[in-house]
Amino acid sequence: MSKAKVGVGVIGCGNISDVYFETGKKFEILDMIACADLMPERAQDKAKKHGLRKACTVEELLADPQIDIVLNLTVPKAHAQVALAAVEAKKSVYNEKPLTAQREDGRRLLELAHRNKVLVGGAPDTFLGAGLQTCRKLIDDGAIGKPIAATAFMLGHGPESWHPAPAFYYEVGGGPMFDMGPYYLTALIALMGPIRRVTGSTRITFPERTVTSEPLKGMAVKVETPTHIAGVLDFKCGAIATIVTSFDVWSANVPCIDIYGTEGSLSVPDPNGFGGPVRLRRSTDSEWKEVPLSHGYAENSRCIGTADMAYAIRSGRDHRASGELAYHVLDVMHALHDASREGRHVEPGSTCKQPAPLRADLPPFVLDD
Ligand SMILES: NC(=O)c1ccc[n+]([C@@H]2O[C@H](COP(=O)([O-])OP(=O)(O)OC[C@H]3O[C@@H](n4cnc5c(N)ncnc54)[C@H](O)[C@@H]3O)[C@@H](O)[C@H]2O)c1
Repeated sequence: MSKAKVGVGVIGCGNISDVYFETGKKFEILDMIACADLMPERAQDKAKKHGLRKACTVEELLADPQIDIVLNLTVPKAHAQVALAAVEAKKSVYNEKPLTAQREDGRRLLELAHRNKVLVGGAPDTFLGAGLQTCRKLIDDGAIGKPIAATAFMLGHGPESWHPAPAFYYEVGGGPMFDMGPYYLTALIALMGPIRRVTGSTRITFPERTVTSEPLKGMAVKVETPTHIAGVLDFKCGAIATIVTSFDVWSANVPCIDIYGTEGSLSVPDPNGFGGPVRLRRSTDSEWKEVPLSHGYAENSRCIGTADMAYAIRSGRDHRASGELAYHVLDVMHALHDASREGRHVEPGSTCKQPAPLRADLPPFVLDD
């Protein structure tokens, strides 16, 4: 099989892009070629900082025959437009989360990619980190028996105390589920497979928020989307999860994710990170025990999902942080809101394969032989 590198062009050179450039350069399969941004000086800065061959316009990047993957790190409301343009240009595309804001755009993206014979991938790829891969191995090895249930909690009081421009978190398409839900749902699906049906209740507790961070301190923000979402997720494997995401709670004493099995319980680390700790308590144990991590990538390795997609382009195998997985997550997030509005269980129209576990026997920054 050819060992040629896979060319990457980054669109969107904001806060999160540095870690993608840094990690991307470490993967033997990736060639980080170019970057573009609506603000050209941002692209120029990043190209210089990370030693890329060029900063260019979005149009030039999409026309470059050396670029196989467009890494779309734009803001959520631009994800669909940029990704569709990439796929139109017959490039594979990997989007930051959420895949798109609306389900229709996500479906259109997957269909067009299929027709143009290119791949779609989507963040988060934190489930490929050491913490969640260790959890996956423990579950697959039977450490907790068959999963029965799970709890997943992300509770806080919203980003207006620290984010410099927090208004978009309270617009339609924002809220704690669309912002943080992708980490929790992707982790649960990576560990237990796809979701069969959901129900939920949502509320807006504070119809107006006051920004307390600089530079917009004192600004009022109208809340247009639910800020507390409590959901129940029935997995195809039979497990039942409870998920709560909230921007309405001052403090809480709950785990990030626990998985409860017929033979024991697993404490899963923060799915917004790559490391541990992973803790296990089997039915015969008298206390929780920390489990050594069985896999690599405990540090921030955002871009590993893109590298995995590059191997899929090279060999034709499935990739793990796939568009199908990201679309299933998007569909489930919408379904939780639909269920509350309509007062019923909702079956998401989508499903996905449980992504394959990562191999633990390869050198760092190599994902296939
Ligand atoms: N910042 C984080 O900690 C973080 C963490 C995880 C995921 N994310 C996700 O990463 C994405 C980017 O977040 P960020 O914090 O880097 O945002 P940012 O606002 O700092 O950067 C986004 C960049 O995209 C550019 N852009 C917007 N629309 C564009 C378009 N149509 N064409 C070209 N460039 C365009 C903007 O000019 C900006 O430079 C978001 O989807 C976010 O959800 C961010």
